[in-house]
Amino acid sequence: MSYLETAAEFYGEVAQTPEVGLCCVQSSPLQLPGLKIPPQMQEMNYGCGTTVHPTELANSPSVLYVGVGGGLEALQFAYFSRRVGGVIAVDPVAKMREAAAKNLRMASAQNAWFDLSFVEIREGDAFALPVPDASVDVVAQNCLFNIFEPADLNKALQEAYRVLKPGGRLLMSDPIATRPIPSHLQKDERLRAMCLSGAMTYEQYTQQLIDAGFGQVEIRARRPYRLLDSATYGLPEPLLLESLDSVSFKVQIPEDGACIFTGKTAIYAGSEEFFDDSNGHILHRGIPAAVCDKTAGKLGGLMPNEVLITDSTWHYTGGGCC
Ligand SMILES: C[S@@+](CC[C@H](N)C(=O)[O-])C[C@H]1O[C@@H](n2cnc3c(N)ncnc32)[C@H](O)[C@@H]1O
Repeated sequence: MSYLETAAEFYGEVAQTPEVGLCCVQSSPLQLPGLKIPPQMQEMNYGCGTTVHPTELANSPSVLYVGVGGGLEALQFAYFSRRVGGVIAVDPVAKMREAAAKNLRMASAQNAWFDLSFVEIREGDAFALPVPDASVDVVAQNCLFNIFEPADLNKALQEAYRVLKPGGRLLMSDPIATRPIPSHLQKDERLRAMCLSGAMTYEQYTQQLIDAGFGQVEIRARRPYRLLDSATYGLPEPLLLESLDSVSFKVQIPEDGACIFTGKTAIYAGSEEFFDDSNGHILHRGIPAAVCDKTAGKLGGLMPNEVLITDSTWHYTGGGCC
C-alpha cells in the first residue's frame, strides 16, 4: 500500500466518523454575512488555515477546489461565485465526496442564497485534475499538499499550474516545519496523512512553488500550528509546525527571480524628496512601500543607511493605503 493509499483510507475513515480538530487550528471559521455553516460541516473542518481570501474572489471567479473534505471551503467559495458550477470540488475518496454532498445539502436548507448546483463534486485527484488546460481562475487546496512527498508535490503543483488561466491564482494553506522533519517521522504514513509529518520548511515549500512556474507568491498568514514534542515523536527537542496561507500567481517568473511578498516594506530615510532605483521602484521619503523579499534584499544592500527595510509581517494582502 502506498502512502497515498494510506491517506485515502484515512480520509475514508474520518469522512464517516468526523475527527474534530484533526487539522484545524483553534479559531472560528471565516464568518461571512448571511452564511450559515451547519455544525456537521464545521466538525469536518480539516483545514489548517483558510484559502478563502475575499480580495481574490471578485467577479464570480471559477474555482477548482482540490480535496473537498467536508465541503466547508467549497461552500465559502460558492458564497462568492454564486453561479451554477462556479465551484468544482475534487476528491478521490468516495466517502468524503458523499459526506461533502450531504453537508452541502444541509447548507442549502439553511442558506437562502445557496443552490446545490453552485458546487459540483467530481471524482478526481490532485495529480490528474478533471478540467482542461487554462480553464479556471482559482485553484485552492487546504492541508492536502503537505501530505505529498516532494516529487508528488511537484506534480500536483504543475497540475494546478496547468489548469489555471494566465494570471490565475493558487490559494493554499499547509503546515510548514520550522526545521526539517526527521526521516523516521516522514516515513510514518499515518502521521503524514494526519498532516503531521510531511511538512517542508518554508524555503523548500516556496521553492517548490517557483519550480512549478509561479512568478509571484504572496504570504497571507503564518501562525503556530502544532508542536511535536520530544517524548511522543522521538525528537531530541520539540519541533514547531506552522501553518502558512499563500496565494501564488500564474505569471511569468521575472529574469532576476520570482517575487515573494512576506509583508516587508522599504522606507527611504535620505535627504531627497524621493529615491528612484532606476529599476521601477520609487520610494518617497518616510513613506513605506511594499516590496517583495528579492527587492528588499537589493534595496537594503544598495543604500543600507538611507533605505530602511522592515521585517516580514507574514501578512501581505497587496496594495497600500492610497
Ligand atoms: C486534510 S483533508 C482537507 C479537507 C479540506 N480541504 C478542508 O480544509 O477541510 C484532505 C482532503 O484531501 C483528500 N485527498 C486525499 N488524497 C487526495 C488526492 N490525491 N487528491 C485530491 N484529494 C485528496 C481527502 O479525501 C480529504 O478530503
